[in-house]
Amino acid sequence: MVEGKDRATLDHILTSCNGDKRALIAIMQKIQHEYRYLPRQALEYVAKKLGVSPAKIYSVATFYENFSLRPKGRYIVRVCDGTACHVRKSASILKTIREGLGLDKDKTTTDDMLFTVETVSCLGACGLSPVISINEQIFAEMTPEKALACLNKIREKEAGNYGKKREKIHL
Ligand code: FES
Repeated sequence: MVEGKDRATLDHILTSCNGDKRALIAIMQKIQHEYRYLPRQALEYVAKKLGVSPAKIYSVATFYENFSLRPKGRYIVRVCDGTACHVRKSASILKTIREGLGLDKDKTTTDDMLFTVETVSCLGACGLSPVISINEQIFAEMTPEKALACLNKIREKEAGNYGKKREKIHL
């Protein structure tokens, strides 16, 4: 059941795509942009409004790697593990980030929903490898230490925003 603000948000997305079922992927992209993942209730609401089966929407959601049915953190950290980054030791950056955040291959989002860590096969900046991105920003020539410093900066900023005591990430 979708109500209130969420309903208004989804209606706005549907209207922006003229409620056209041929724009299903664009609609799903907008939903994911809004919520950082595809909430089940949102997909069911959209399916009903567009007159398509939920099964069709779920098959699209699972076919495209960029769609996520699992909630993601406010900051999506992508560690490039393409060839150029791999030979420059991206694996140690990934290991450090995961350990620092208490994550692993299966648990990819922190409990406070601040960070999600993913790997990608190329961020399109091979000449600056090893590279990570945090949301849409690229960070070049990374080291494990620099990566942790980036995460700590975000933690500090977020703690400041909510007036919380800042917690540093240590290994
Ligand atoms: S391989 Fe890492 S940016 Fe291309």
